[in-house]
Amino acid sequence: MTTPSAPRSGARPGDQYSIQVSPGKDTEEPEHEVDEIGPTGRPYRDVPEPAPLDRHGPATVIAVCNQKGGVGKTTSTINLGAALAEYGRRVLLVDLDPQGALSAGLGVPHHELEQTVYNLLVPPQVATDEVLMRTRVEGLDLLPSNIDLSAAEIQLVTEVGREQSLGRALHPVLDRYDVVLIDCQPSLGLLTVNALACSDTVLIPMECEYFSLRGLALLTDTINKVRDRLNPRLDLGGILVTMFDARTLHSREVMARVVEVFGDAVYDTVIARTVRFPETSVAGEPITSWAPRSAGAKAYRALAREVIARNVTRT
Ligand SMILES: Nc1ncnc2c1ncn2[C@@H]1O[C@H](COP(=O)(O)OP(=O)(O)OP(=O)(O)O)[C@@H](O)[C@H]1O
Ligand SMILES: [Mg+2]
Repeated sequence: MTTPSAPRSGARPGDQYSIQVSPGKDTEEPEHEVDEIGPTGRPYRDVPEPAPLDRHGPATVIAVCNQKGGVGKTTSTINLGAALAEYGRRVLLVDLDPQGALSAGLGVPHHELEQTVYNLLVPPQVATDEVLMRTRVEGLDLLPSNIDLSAAEIQLVTEVGREQSLGRALHPVLDRYDVVLIDCQPSLGLLTVNALACSDTVLIPMECEYFSLRGLALLTDTINKVRDRLNPRLDLGGILVTMFDARTLHSREVMARVVEVFGDAVYDTVIARTVRFPETSVAGEPITSWAPRSAGAKAYRALAREVIARNVTRT
């Protein structure tokens, strides 16, 4: 396992972007009461505080997936992962997007990496431990990616068992983690099918916007096909509504429609639209440490509690 290179003295993790941001003032938002009507239009369900763990693993694998771009997949992977780690869970994040946004969002200089997820998928494969990195967040590890991964989709086509390549790579480390989160690229190609083929459940971030509803039928269709043909245990974990703006009628109307179509699969936790998330990508760290008391950090902690209660079966 490698650790990220130490930042230059006095430098923050995001310095490679040459934009400076500061955490600024945190906005405190009150916690909700049980039975209070939440942004989904339903009362919040009772979610227990996660119990501490006295042992770890085997991991529940969660694919964070939506073929629509820019809906909050990477933001949710980083911040849910960090919030789960705060609850004492051992978490592995897998960057399955050649853009490497997940790796960059954790301050990893991914362009310079010699060994990435690409080397786990395409022969001659390396051991998973050679690619594994610690992050600056305690309990949160990463399998990073960069543009090399874009060749994998083509190279894998001729491999036997090509849909199971990621599953084979993750298998040796599953016992060490409680949760594995896979950040998928915005497509339903072979890499995403690999993520679905080795996952227990799918978390679908969805931007609270009318056109976002259109692609969800194709996505749930793909999930059903993967369940039938490759992975019978795959389950639709939940729909996470992101970039919600309670002040607009549009947001509230889209939310009502999502709840009408997907019912209980919609998480009670909703992620509001806020500039704090783009700031954290520049800073190269999760919102839970960048602005720990912000509404965004609290929302991802609430999501972590829901995910532990609803989706993490083995802890
Ligand atoms: N709740 C939010 N409020 C405001 N901006 C957000 C929110 N969540 C994410 N963003 C911003 O929106 C952009 C897209 O988010 P993100 O990269 O997480 O989406 P994605 O689904 O992973 O995108 P891609 O499909 O390109 O991988 C980023 O600039 C991110 O900082
Ligand atoms: Mg992304």
